[in-house]
Amino acid sequence: IHNVIFKNSNEASIVVATEIANLIKEKSQKNEQCVLGLATGSSPIKVYEELVRMHHKEGLSFKNVVTFNLDEYYPMDIENIQSYYYFMYEHLFDHIDILPENVHIPDGKISSNGLYQYCIDYEMKIKEAGGLDFQLLGIGRTGHIGFNEPGSHYNSGTRMITLDHITRVDAAPSFLGIENVPRKAITMGIATVRAAKRIVLLGWGQHKASIIKETIEGNISSQVPATYLQEHQNTTFVLDTEAGSELT
Ligand code: F6R
Repeated sequence: IHNVIFKNSNEASIVVATEIANLIKEKSQKNEQCVLGLATGSSPIKVYEELVRMHHKEGLSFKNVVTFNLDEYYPMDIENIQSYYYFMYEHLFDHIDILPENVHIPDGKISSNGLYQYCIDYEMKIKEAGGLDFQLLGIGRTGHIGFNEPGSHYNSGTRMITLDHITRVDAAPSFLGIENVPRKAITMGIATVRAAKRIVLLGWGQHKASIIKETIEGNISSQVPATYLQEHQNTTFVLDTEAGSELT
């Protein structure tokens, strides 16, 4: 893992958005699709804001972009404002020229009968698209990436998981109480994420400092799933001063 520390998350987000934009343009010049793995939550908001700005002000086109989101709560309706589906349209997809058929977000309403096959199909779609060129990640205080909570296997694929208590506590304010936070989610697996050609993990704020330290300096362990990224050859952690403050 390579880490870069910026004075603030605004500046850092612009650098990350620029990398994504350059990749999209490079692929477009070669008439190729650009396959992006995307995250939700507070960390990527400014990256999406900058990509939307580039679309409006600089003519950045997303016509050659295919996206796969990391995760979705389960069960969850797309109309629900807490859904990751809603989040992605609100912050990105409603404001750019991506083709609707190129957007993939795990379906929080899939029947439990169809779930197993649905997850296999999600993996297949990523492979058929040519694999993830770029994966954007945040990190949870449990060390989760996507919703791969402690205990997640190195070789895990897209599947249903049970959310860690700490993750539900962190989500409680936006759900107006922990009792409203779903107990489960569908998430891409560790193997799905590891297969990405390039990974950028965003970490902002003091509350991420100790998990960032554990992830970068600790031993690789299923108890801190983000430590699996230590074995990925092309991963950068983009941090602000606070999130990087405990690194030695
Ligand atoms: C969201 C996701 C999660 C978040 C993580 C950090 O799609 O995969 O792993 O990235 O929970 O959330 P924030 O950015 O809200 O601190």
